[in-house]
Amino acid sequence: MQCRLDGQVAIVTGASSGIGHGVARALAQAGAAVAINYNSHNEPAEALAREIAEAGGRAIVVGADVSDEASVIALFDETVSTFGGVDIVVANSGMQKDAPSDEMTLDDWNKVITVNLTGQFLTAREAIRRFTAQGDRGRSRARGKIICMSSVHEVIPWAGHVNYAASKGGIALMMRTLAQEVAPSRIRINAIAPGAIRTAINAAETQGDAAERLLTLIPYRRIGAAEDIARAAVFLASDMSDYIVGATLFVDGGMTLYPGFADNG
Ligand code: BGC
Repeated sequence: MQCRLDGQVAIVTGASSGIGHGVARALAQAGAAVAINYNSHNEPAEALAREIAEAGGRAIVVGADVSDEASVIALFDETVSTFGGVDIVVANSGMQKDAPSDEMTLDDWNKVITVNLTGQFLTAREAIRRFTAQGDRGRSRARGKIICMSSVHEVIPWAGHVNYAASKGGIALMMRTLAQEVAPSRIRINAIAPGAIRTAINAAETQGDAAERLLTLIPYRRIGAAEDIARAAVFLASDMSDYIVGATLFVDGGMTLYPGFADNG
């Protein structure tokens, strides 16, 4: 058995940059037709769609704000009307708005929770509805697969990022609760918890001296690339992981291994 997704249709939210971009490309390389969702920057999403088409794959670009219910429904409508169904949904959109907690505005708290947590809920809810309504498409052992993009900060507290850490902690139990609820319908829901992956979200931390400091938090001594997460997403979307349900796969070079204790604490 291979990690192939031929004949399947995937939606990736927040795919105009960073991890989502890499995940959308990898799903297409594995054979899936992909709906590349963006919120504000369409050009990188269009460029990826062209790249996928040139390589013989199929992709569309769909603008949608995941924190807006109608927009999420429209994203699924457009995908299904173009490709005839949906098999894989990667709820990836996320953002940071960092501040010490005593300076964090209610707006910045709400924005991050609304995009990162509510946005993933709206995306997963719509995926569950579509998987249920369309029945078994016979393309995979599961009727549908959902992958939630979490973070090492679903378990590692992160001073100065309370909105972000709370959103990712929320994703952990949202994902497991949904997985428990819909597994009997053969819908598989899992999560990926990336560590420090070099993208625009953490550009300041992953360069120069800051990168050296960051490496001390990564036992494997390498800052991750979007492709590291993309490979995990292809695996979790494929039948290779068919018995994996409600799991969070940490893809973090060992960041969650408490490296501060490596020298006896
Ligand atoms: C954050 C990054 C950070 C990484 C490790 C991710 O979830 O978005 O900014 O580098 O966690 O701390």
